Amino acid sequence: MSTRKRLKRGDGVDFQIEGPEATRAIVLHVERRDRNAPQATERDAAAKLEEAVGLALAIDLEIADAVIAPLAAPKPATLIGSGKVEELAKLVEQTGAELVVVNAQLSPIQQRNLEKAWGAKVLDRTGLILEIFGRRASTSEGTLQVELAHLQYQKSRLVRSWTHLERQRGGFGFLGGPGESQLEADRRIIQERITKIERQLESVVKTRELHRKGRARVPYPVVALVGYTNAGKSTLFNRMSGAEVLAKDLLFATLDPTMRVISLPLGRKVILSDTVGFISDLPTALIAAFRATLEEVLEADIILHVRDVSHTDTEAQADDVNRVLNELGIDEVRRGQIIEVWNKLDRLTPEERQLREAQAQRKPNCVLVSALTGEGLGHLLVAIEDRLGAADAVYQIILDSADGQGLAWLHDRGEVLERQDDPDGCMRVAVRLTAEKAGQAMARFGAAMSPAETRKAAAE
Ligand code: GTP
Repeated sequence: MSTRKRLKRGDGVDFQIEGPEATRAIVLHVERRDRNAPQATERDAAAKLEEAVGLALAIDLEIADAVIAPLAAPKPATLIGSGKVEELAKLVEQTGAELVVVNAQLSPIQQRNLEKAWGAKVLDRTGLILEIFGRRASTSEGTLQVELAHLQYQKSRLVRSWTHLERQRGGFGFLGGPGESQLEADRRIIQERITKIERQLESVVKTRELHRKGRARVPYPVVALVGYTNAGKSTLFNRMSGAEVLAKDLLFATLDPTMRVISLPLGRKVILSDTVGFISDLPTALIAAFRATLEEVLEADIILHVRDVSHTDTEAQADDVNRVLNELGIDEVRRGQIIEVWNKLDRLTPEERQLREAQAQRKPNCVLVSALTGEGLGHLLVAIEDRLGAADAVYQIILDSADGQGLAWLHDRGEVLERQDDPDGCMRVAVRLTAEKAGQAMARFGAAMSPAETRKAAAE
């Protein structure tokens, strides 16, 4: 049984200690002090440390301690200064930690030097995120992407340490002699595996594209949930779809996109798609490797940007997500398709809530909800429907019960929402049509066609 208990540290960091089966670890957040950067834009170091602890907990580490190291000038050999290295060595000894998670990017040399100085294994931020991705990947594509990113990471490390060795030898170069060196062999094996995985990925992506093309024929728009890790995407997804998707207080609970068809208040159907959580400082190489996962977002008709507005860091998290969306090519034009979902309303104090409500009123495309209690979800569904329905409208058409052709015509060109057979030999069909198709329908059905009454009130 897990023996979790919450600790409140003096620096405001709240973290949990795991049961005896977990690896003991110290989390070290390296806080760069850039004198030119304005203080106000700097993310709070304690919040960053807390996030790093959250990431470490996601791979079931037992957190022995969590420390911040301010850094003005990076040291090539160890990144942090020698005083801090010694301090950590003592802490490792005192706590018996086997692992130090360094919340920064380390070069292979820095990693090796720190491991030597501390007598413990060292994992940097990229390594940690790869571990998490590895644990969370569930589909074949996700697993392959993670392995590929891992191998590329390893390969770059091998190359760099090899170059370093060469320099150490005073420029004589690495003379291979007969046969290949161990490093060359390692690199070859890794490269072979990378090539194989890339081929496998190609075929997986092709299969997925086929599925996607199949879906494109279904006249359902796609609504994608994006957001910072732990913002509440899976919880909202479950609420909206009634589906059981893994939702835990673990970062990155969602790696592979999950999809469900849901009905909006006016009866319109959409495909709801849950995606991987965003995280700050995600190395570019990883973003590229996970692009296929995020491609769902590029194809979406509506993007729900889920934000944890109860988090102290919510603005910086939103900036991170927007930056990644920009990198993915979600340009200004498509920004109009984004609805910001301000989640965890239930965690706000009455004052905070008032403030958020006032802010939301001034900001278009913004809905306040609590995925946990369900508050505000009706408004969210209406907002999605409004956005989608701007160009489309719902009509009622009365057909003769025997007019199978007329009904087939409507099914082909629009989205039939409802059909009601009257005892007098008529059927009433509620259908959603684009403006163009509505014109054609008008020509065909004439007076039998009328705008349908709105059922928006049902959602209120
Ligand atoms: P990743 O998979 O890491 O990207 O996370 P996610 O965005 O899918 O978050 P998830 O739905 O797993 O929620 C994270 C935590 O926040 C869970 O413990 C949820 O129970 C909690 N949570 C989500 N929505 C709400 C909410 O409206 N109110 C409160 N109080 N907690 C919430």
